[in-house]
Amino acid sequence: MAIQVTWLGHSAFQLNIGGHKILIDPFLTGNPLATLKPDQAEADFILISHAHGDHIGDTVEIAKRTGATVVANNEIGNWFKSKHGLEHVHTLNPGGGVKLPFGRVELTIAHHSSALPDGSYGGQPNGILMFTDEGQKLYHAGDTTVFMEMQLIGELGLDLAILPIGDYFTMGIDGSLKSIEFLKPKTAIPMHYNTFNLIAQDVALWARRVQNETSARPVVLDPGGSFQL
Ligand code: NI
Ligand code: MN
Repeated sequence: MAIQVTWLGHSAFQLNIGGHKILIDPFLTGNPLATLKPDQAEADFILISHAHGDHIGDTVEIAKRTGATVVANNEIGNWFKSKHGLEHVHTLNPGGGVKLPFGRVELTIAHHSSALPDGSYGGQPNGILMFTDEGQKLYHAGDTTVFMEMQLIGELGLDLAILPIGDYFTMGIDGSLKSIEFLKPKTAIPMHYNTFNLIAQDVALWARRVQNETSARPVVLDPGGSFQL
């Protein structure tokens, strides 16, 4: 099954898996790299890594308009339901997953912080694993530093790892290289960089180093650009 991965800037991605439309961390309003407006976004499912505004983004508006089912951790999921009246929400915790029409979605740990835009407790931050029905394994790390348990995730045999490289709020290039060593993905895509000055990065340098120092294939997308897995 062909999987199309489109970068919407920052940590926001649109995946098309066998015709199912999946948004991850749809931060579009206020994202200077975004090539899509929230009222144009299509989604059957919206997956959320953690509670920060640059990840929750336009989830509420998009879910209300499209009827998309949201997958998030327990605290964020319950906040979507109680505060915003979203009805179709899965409220997971790390290691737990849910079977969806395209495959299983599971949350992992991430090392970061997490508070909702109104200051509510956002629970623990997460990464997101997707196991498609055809056997492909995809990992969106969310916001995190490198951590040893990435070796366990790597034992799954990842086809794709999407990793932050921006530094300051997350790991930078060195940390992402170490993550790739642990995760051993076939392909790596960078995210969470160049959105703001604080996280400006030389992505060409990142790609050269991934090519030369790891076994993964680096794929750098332009905002709005797609990659076929
Ligand atoms: Ni964050
Ligand atoms: Mn972030």
